[in-house]
Amino acid sequence: MGVLTFVSTGKALPKRKVTNEDISKIVDTSDEWIRTRTGIEKRYYCEEESCTDLAIEAAKLAVERGLERDSEFSTDKIGLIIVATTSADYAFPSTACMVGKALNLKGNVMAYDLSAACSGFIYGLQNAKALLSEIDNKYALVIGSEKMSKLLDFTDRSTCVLFGDGAAAALVKLEDREGISYIRSYSDGNDEDLICGGIASKDSFLKMKGQSVFKFAVRAIKQSVDEVLDRAGLDMGDIDYVICHQANARIIDFVKKNYEGHEDKFYQNVADYANTSAASVGLALDDLIESGEIKRGMKIVLVGFGAGLTWSAGVFEI
Ligand code: ACO
Repeated sequence: MGVLTFVSTGKALPKRKVTNEDISKIVDTSDEWIRTRTGIEKRYYCEEESCTDLAIEAAKLAVERGLERDSEFSTDKIGLIIVATTSADYAFPSTACMVGKALNLKGNVMAYDLSAACSGFIYGLQNAKALLSEIDNKYALVIGSEKMSKLLDFTDRSTCVLFGDGAAAALVKLEDREGISYIRSYSDGNDEDLICGGIASKDSFLKMKGQSVFKFAVRAIKQSVDEVLDRAGLDMGDIDYVICHQANARIIDFVKKNYEGHEDKFYQNVADYANTSAASVGLALDDLIESGEIKRGMKIVLVGFGAGLTWSAGVFEI
């Protein structure tokens, strides 16, 4: 079926940085509470930027880097654009179609938005892997873009401190080579009330049962990581990095205790961006690739979990 290869990545953040101190002027909270309960130090909120603007900026950066790094790539070879988001600007047209327009792609590209909350980026990678064998152009853009700030109730301190805005994009292609790209995605709608939200009115702003989500998250991460490693015939000793959805440092600290001797492989950057939902795994991937910490030939695990409930994991040889 081919191996999904990461050609390049890109990211975009709004200009407005919001520290825990800044948030404590809006709701009754403190830097100390937020840091110790979540690991978050700051987040970014859109002002004039839209969810679409962030998706386009991240996509353009991934494409620019793709042109530098892959001599076979040209923009017209993009046959698929998937934007994972829960905070799109419009119900329609999709954010993905707007990204296609910004890249001047006309007609020859399949484009759609995907709703799987914080698992969306990895759901998108699995969609891309499956669909790329069905379409003529062999490159896909998988983007996670979120303007979470518009879903937040700024009178509810138990949720509004946790989230931020941002976008990340991966330019991927399907290659006929030795390598690993094993991805699995799941859902269970029976716990739909653990995290839900919309934008129609204050009553439908994001709501969350934090402690139940915490328990679900640690269970889903462990189960998904173990499953994809097992199916790929690997164990944690073979893996260089594990990038979990960045919701809360305590969730990741809890999970990594299961993998004694490998705790350092669990990357964390929730301090910098807070929980950016579908963008978080891509933001972490971009930070690690651009800093040179993730290099070609390394094996990594990506894991997402979120509203739905949904969860998803993939193991890749980069
Ligand atoms: N500042 C100060 N105090 C607060 C705040 C705040 N921002 N938020 C809640 N509190 C208070 C509560 O009112 C409560 O006070 P009380 O004891 O007087 O009633 C106290 O802190 C403890 O509240 P808990 O909800 O029990 O706090 P907990 O230790 O469970 O931490 C948290 C809450 C951080 C939300 C935790 O449950 C958690 O991380 N859950 C997972 C959430 C998550 O990861 N969600 C995202 C995943 S899915 C997705 O990304 C969409």
